[in-house]
Amino acid sequence: MTHPTWPIDLRSDTVTRPGEAMRRAMAAAPVGDDVYREDPTINSLQEKVADMLGKEAALFVPSGTMSNQLCLRTLTRMGDEVIVHEDAHVLHYEGGSAAALSALQLRPIAGALGALPVEAVERAIRPAGEHFARTGALEMENTHNRCGGTIWPLEQMEAVAAVARSRGIGVHLDGARIWNAHKATGIPLPAYAAAADSVSVCFSKGLGAPVGSALAGTRAFVEEARNNRKRFGGAMRQAGILAAGALYGLEHNFDRLVQDHENAAVLAGYLREVPGLHIIHPVQTNIVIVEVAGLGMTAEQVVTVLKENGVLCGAAAPTRVRFVTHLDVDAAAVRTAGEIAARLLRARRPGA
Ligand SMILES: Cc1ncc(COP(=O)(O)O)c(C=O)c1O
Repeated sequence: MTHPTWPIDLRSDTVTRPGEAMRRAMAAAPVGDDVYREDPTINSLQEKVADMLGKEAALFVPSGTMSNQLCLRTLTRMGDEVIVHEDAHVLHYEGGSAAALSALQLRPIAGALGALPVEAVERAIRPAGEHFARTGALEMENTHNRCGGTIWPLEQMEAVAAVARSRGIGVHLDGARIWNAHKATGIPLPAYAAAADSVSVCFSKGLGAPVGSALAGTRAFVEEARNNRKRFGGAMRQAGILAAGALYGLEHNFDRLVQDHENAAVLAGYLREVPGLHIIHPVQTNIVIVEVAGLGMTAEQVVTVLKENGVLCGAAAPTRVRFVTHLDVDAAAVRTAGEIAARLLRARRPGA
């Protein structure tokens, strides 16, 4: 199987395709019925993830969305409110599932670079009383997707978690890209995970697996989440074939995440040189979001122009364009994409 390098696809780190070696590992995986807990590959993956995160147990699930939603369901009761960042993935990109599946209301609050300010969290927690929803959980996302792959400072996570816990509120970490935060800062994964009661991680983003996520927490939490996974229709049978892709990603594609970060910095360098373009967040990991209003163009127009010239990116907002570096786009391709984007967009600026 050849990895296509054209067009240069920087829409998301979810677009990676499993290479030959990962496919071989998947094909050769020992499997069993996971509803009977007899799939050895899933069992190994769950043990490995729990171990990496310093949690008692973990559970393999089909997607990051299901993982987040299972955690929220398991932490809360029907009608609860969940404090989230105003740009949280669970708020914008999970199809309204917190409301649809768990009867939860999300309480968005603002905060720089995707992190929730401690005082704002304190203010957002509902007092007791029959008028109010019960604040059932608080959610953190690290790295933060809509805020350009930015990293929550660990101290801020700990401070926010301490406030929530002092009020008996469960804390969930959407760690779809916690691997990237760990690689960029060197902070151990268990330190991040300890700030939350439940953690969700993804294998199908920077790690390059075709499918899969896991949630982790105490043994009791994971048992209950397992029950909820069945209710959500996410209990699978010989899914060790998929877990093998995730294990392969953890073993072979983990350390190279730093290359994605370097490539994002290189790409940002090209884009920063274009008058009228503004990179809205510091580029800390593998995501670059640019404000394009200064070019007099919409995000869709930029996406179209670049697509016609072989560079794929995504509209993150009406005038914001997102680029994500990943396993299937190497340093040379990223430089090519940067050159193409800079040349085309420079020519588009008003008065050029
Ligand atoms: C921060 C974050 N959380 C959760 C998800 C959901 O993952 P999935 O697409 O596997 O449902 C994503 C997907 O991009 C994400 O970026």
